[in-house]
Amino acid sequence: MSLFRQKAPIWISCQRRLPHVLEKEFRSYGWTPHSVFDTGLLWEGSLEDTIELNLRLRTASSVFYQLAEFEADHPDHVYEQVRRYPWEEILNPGGYFSVSTQVFHETVNNSMFVSLRVKDGIVDRFRQIRGRRPNSGSSREGAVIHLYWKGKRAFLYIDSSGHSLARHGYRKIPGRAPMLEALAAATILTSRWDGATAFVNPMCGSGTLAIEAALIASRTAPGLFRDEYGFQHILGYDPSFYHEMKIRLESEIIEPTEKLIYASDILAPSVEQARRNARAAGVESMIDFQVHDFRDQKIPDSSPGVLFFNPEYGQRLGEEEVLKPIYAAIGDFMKNHAPGYWGYVFTANVNLAKSIGLRPQRRIPFFHAKLEARLLEYSLYSGTRDAETREPSTPV
Ligand SMILES: C[S@@+](CC[C@H](N)C(=O)[O-])C[C@H]1O[C@@H](n2cnc3c(N)ncnc32)[C@H](O)[C@@H]1O
Repeated sequence: MSLFRQKAPIWISCQRRLPHVLEKEFRSYGWTPHSVFDTGLLWEGSLEDTIELNLRLRTASSVFYQLAEFEADHPDHVYEQVRRYPWEEILNPGGYFSVSTQVFHETVNNSMFVSLRVKDGIVDRFRQIRGRRPNSGSSREGAVIHLYWKGKRAFLYIDSSGHSLARHGYRKIPGRAPMLEALAAATILTSRWDGATAFVNPMCGSGTLAIEAALIASRTAPGLFRDEYGFQHILGYDPSFYHEMKIRLESEIIEPTEKLIYASDILAPSVEQARRNARAAGVESMIDFQVHDFRDQKIPDSSPGVLFFNPEYGQRLGEEEVLKPIYAAIGDFMKNHAPGYWGYVFTANVNLAKSIGLRPQRRIPFFHAKLEARLLEYSLYSGTRDAETREPSTPV
């Protein structure tokens, strides 16, 4: 039976600290994970199922379909096991593949070496059975075979995604410190925004948060923006199934009747970039773009709307001091101008977050690349609750 119909363990990976959001997203489509752990979810499904997962999931990085699990205590054991696998049933001898590995084993300090052993195992099997072999290299354009090896257990997968899903495929012109699309989507899905009230995003930069909010509100699957996936290079792949899935997902898109998303930045070129990115994502008409200081942001009467800031983090010497009054002004603005809203600040500088001066209702930990980050949530009452929202010197 083709792997496209055969069930096997599926590992859906994501960036660190995103599994809880990925799980919520996954369940929202009616699926139940078998388990959730710090690098993603485990489930069971066919290679055909991976097509829908690749197209739908906003917060995932890769969808791995398991081929084999074995014991290994040395790269030679990995080679022997790989050579035993019937690769001629899944890879085209005239095609192309690459190998990626994650290795946590005391005998290995260079995982490149293990990748080579995996490649050798596949190639030697082909030479033995078929007399010719597919090409291989480092580009992820063809089939991608993934090895996860930790301690004595090793797992071989097809990486059905190929390129990472964390970057959504609309052609994005990055601005300064842009958020990765999967991270931006994860912070929005963690917020209390329901897609039906205003989403106000001053300091929008290249527009990632506003665009991801528009994609969520219009139920646009992020995978509709790309046309190259690892699963397309596995024997038995049926392009008509993929095309039908895309048509089904396109039919789910809704055109919101009201403009609910507001994006602004102090820099006109950033707003222009954000607008172009939104156009590439097909959501320009859903977003109101403005150039102005965040203090001039109009807050629509849309309770309980969401006011979402992603200010700069000030990683370089001296920048933190300059940013302190900006963070304080963000706190003042939220408190005085957005009654009834939920306020959010996403920052990778916990020190600066203290300058906001309000008591967060939730502090949700994330990473921005390698930096510790927090999504801070504020319940914004009108002036009467001042005493409760003012931040004492609690650690963020
Ligand atoms: C960290 S970036 C936002 C990145 C954005 N989330 C993205 O993914 O592209 C912070 C943005 O705040 C803007 N900014 C700085 N000071 C501002 C102010 N006083 N008013 C409005 N925007 C400001 C900067 O121009 C920059 O684009």
